Amino acid sequence: MKFFIDTANLAQIKEAQDLGVLDGVTTNPSLMAKEGITGKDNVLRHYKAICDIVDGDVSAEVIATDYDGMIREGEELAELDDKIVVKIPMIKDGIKALKYFSERGIKTNCTLVFSAGQALLAAKAGATYVSPFIGRLDDISFDGIELIEQIRLIYDNYEFDTQILAASVRHPMHIIKCAEAAADVMTGPLSAMLALLKHPLTDSGLSQFLADHAKANS
Ligand code: G3P
Repeated sequence: MKFFIDTANLAQIKEAQDLGVLDGVTTNPSLMAKEGITGKDNVLRHYKAICDIVDGDVSAEVIATDYDGMIREGEELAELDDKIVVKIPMIKDGIKALKYFSERGIKTNCTLVFSAGQALLAAKAGATYVSPFIGRLDDISFDGIELIEQIRLIYDNYEFDTQILAASVRHPMHIIKCAEAAADVMTGPLSAMLALLKHPLTDSGLSQFLADHAKANS
């Protein structure tokens, strides 16, 4: 399973990249706003700065919601760097835009996906990635992981190439459950990745090893 970090914060992206397990980055307009990145030039510069830190794919979302606007913005984003994946919302014109980019070999990520039907449409339109938001489904008492399992079954039934990018991942159990459900990618905060490290028996075991070593060598 690929690990993407879901942030526009350069320091966190660098920290995850330095860990050696990062496969890419996802951003969205809210995450860009959180970092105070405003204005077209700054936004484009910021995406380029992210691409310069990581080796893998970097999702950059269009703001337009009409077909022509999405194509214009998406082409501009894609020209920035080969790592850019054009992120397109799951709306009617978005489906057409996914098809347009897929026919031209430009990578896409279909975002704001909350149902298997939406995921099926995105795959038929040739999306590179589909992003079911599992945390936001859990927030309203729907099972986000069940949706991943459903999409996995449908994609496997028809051998769709679209990769399932589990998004809105919030904590380490989400990551583990996504891995069990065979999501291709998960995107989440650095805190969720680092939480995978933690086990009290690792900490106490290491303390004991170091104490025994120090005693034997004193
Ligand atoms: O990748 C989608 C993500 O940015 C949404 O996460 O935590 O705002 O639901 P969240």
